[in-house]
Amino acid sequence: MEKIDVGIIGTGWCGGIRAQTAASSPLVAGVHLAEIDRIRLKELAEQTGAVTATTDYHDLVADDRIDALMISATPETTHYPMAKAALEAGKHVLLEKPLALTLEEGDELIELAERQGVKFTVGYSQRFNTKQAMVKRSIEDGTLGEPVSALISRHITRRLGDKIGGRIVLSPAAMEATHDIDFLLWCLQPARPVRVYAQAVERVMKEKYGTSDCMSIVVTMDSGVVLTVAAGWILPPGYPNFSTTWMEIVGTEGALLLDDSHRDIVLNTMSEGMTLPLSTMPGEQVRHVYAGPMEQETLYFLDAVVFDRDVLVRPREARQAMEVYLAADLSAERNAPVDLPLSRDEEEPALVAGTV
Ligand SMILES: NC(=O)c1ccc[n+]([C@@H]2O[C@H](COP(=O)([O-])OP(=O)(O)OC[C@H]3O[C@@H](n4cnc5c(N)ncnc54)[C@H](O)[C@@H]3O)[C@@H](O)[C@H]2O)c1
Repeated sequence: MEKIDVGIIGTGWCGGIRAQTAASSPLVAGVHLAEIDRIRLKELAEQTGAVTATTDYHDLVADDRIDALMISATPETTHYPMAKAALEAGKHVLLEKPLALTLEEGDELIELAERQGVKFTVGYSQRFNTKQAMVKRSIEDGTLGEPVSALISRHITRRLGDKIGGRIVLSPAAMEATHDIDFLLWCLQPARPVRVYAQAVERVMKEKYGTSDCMSIVVTMDSGVVLTVAAGWILPPGYPNFSTTWMEIVGTEGALLLDDSHRDIVLNTMSEGMTLPLSTMPGEQVRHVYAGPMEQETLYFLDAVVFDRDVLVRPREARQAMEVYLAADLSAERNAPVDLPLSRDEEEPALVAGTV
């Protein structure tokens, strides 16, 4: 078996997890890091024993030793140029969501990856959440019968809302509901979304960042199934990067009610009061084990590259999710349902105004 060299661009929260996971994988010969924060770069280079540590990601793109790049930089305006450069250089790419900021950019990346014959996937980490994997299985193996409806409610803390809102104007649909839209569309394949109706509430985040606090999105599939996704980012702190999710998946023969609210572990200390550990979306390392989906997602990508297997999140699926959340933004803005596919002049994101 041939080992690969892997580069990580942007080693903040997610990139840190990707880098640590790659460094401990027996499939990886060398880890290479690009990060503009020199302190973080040094810290992670020491932790991972990185072969290369640079502040210029072009160094990794140009490095012929590197087979695959994982792109975890922010703000999200970096995703398209970084992925384009990596794919043009013939690297396999794992790109954190969002795929791009416009469908046009997304299409360009997808076509480029196909032309280059490389693996290209998008970080929809929740597909690797074990509870959610069970939803997919229960639909696929017929346990629930024919799908009827699905409801997902997802909330994250205001600290994360502030982190995201402080770097770019993207909506809760584009940044949070996107996980659930991707997940439900994947579960319900080959059905396709045909109509989106969304409403947004603006009480906390609008003045600070020009974005909404939460969005409720209804998606009608061509099979008649109706999906409801509600997502927001103004919860008070419960734990660093706390997230809480609830799902109801109803079919003709059964229902799956899924509690991922993370209320199963309560840590109470004199200094912090009550907190809910292990409650982030990507998960975290707990001594010798990883709790959460992002480690497995990273390993799956490395496997796909080394053993020439399919990626789990195909880029065209990420594009479909993107079209639905762009339609949700448009629907909230117009206060009216939006039919899919979007026409060319509707494809520009409603809320994106670049970095702030
Ligand atoms: N799948 C999930 O559960 C999940 C969770 C959080 C974030 N995300 C996605 O992952 C991405 C990263 O989020 P995060 O919270 O890790 O962000 P972060 O801000 O913690 O980390 C991003 C890093 O990129 C670095 N960076 C910026 N420009 C760079 C450049 N030109 N070259 C190299 N490094 C550069 C920054 O210094 C920072 O350290 C986001 O786009 C977000 O959408 C996914």
